[in-house]
Amino acid sequence: MDFNVKDAVTRRYSVRTYDKRQPEAGLIKKIMDYAASLDNPFGPEIRVQLIEKETAANGEKLGTYGVIKGAKLYLGVTVSDKPHAMEAVGYEFEKIVLYAASLGLGTCWLGGTFNKSAFAEAMEIKEGELFPILSPIGYPAGKKSLTERLMRAGVKADTRLDWSEIFFDGDFSKPLAAKSTDYAYALEMLRLAPSAVNKQPWRVLVCDEGVHFYKKAMTGAEISSIDMQRIDLGIAMCHFDLAMTEQGSKGRFEFSSPKSVSAKGLEYIASYVRE
Ligand SMILES: Cc1cc2nc3c(=O)[nH]c(=O)nc-3n(C[C@H](O)[C@H](O)[C@H](O)COP(=O)(O)O)c2cc1C
Repeated sequence: MDFNVKDAVTRRYSVRTYDKRQPEAGLIKKIMDYAASLDNPFGPEIRVQLIEKETAANGEKLGTYGVIKGAKLYLGVTVSDKPHAMEAVGYEFEKIVLYAASLGLGTCWLGGTFNKSAFAEAMEIKEGELFPILSPIGYPAGKKSLTERLMRAGVKADTRLDWSEIFFDGDFSKPLAAKSTDYAYALEMLRLAPSAVNKQPWRVLVCDEGVHFYKKAMTGAEISSIDMQRIDLGIAMCHFDLAMTEQGSKGRFEFSSPKSVSAKGLEYIASYVRE
């Protein structure tokens, strides 16, 4: 294991205000080497590129609409445009986010609040690649900006849904009790995961044959060209898988939804099966 899962998961939060002190080159190299060593169970290839605002030719255009303060370094995430691309981004980049947290560095998943065309220009984007996510990286400042505090309050960033709203036992009418499952630790780590606008669209069905991951279907204005909720599911599956691995359990992800289950308003994503 590259880090203690619970420590990293509880340490991580969306850092939007950064310190003047810049991360040492050696620390950034560690992160980039770690990123290069990763893959994901969903297939599509993820690339992470380091963008330095001060040396980029169009540095002055690399903005986040005032959301991120003080960051000079960013990680741009691209993925090959294939099935399960967004789950792959969520799963793989969250490992980097948690690794950075374990080293004392802050990050913030950004899916919307950045000048996408300017950042795309500063990166090398290959044909057939999508560019869904950007994150600043650096030391968190001692004090959060007013914008950051307002944003956190606006999405209730410090709270998460209760177990009974997201975890189910055999079918979606029966909430899962923490004391009745040996997946309790992995599910609790999942519950603390970040998600776009803190929507927490993950719904998890624990059955005898495995653990099935669904996403709450979005409606109307919530639907966008990049499916952020699939990224959220990838992040959730990352937390779950890391926690299972830490506990010495081996498993794999499969794509075969349980047929007899009624899952109204939900979309099946993947299942975790123990080996
Ligand atoms: C896929 C994804 C996209 C996000 N996009 C943005 C964004 O565009 N701007 C932003 O300020 N925060 C963004 N966030 C951060 C969430 O608002 C944040 O994770 C959530 O409110 C929970 O807070 P926490 O990360 O501090 O636990 C995003 C998070 C995820 C997972």
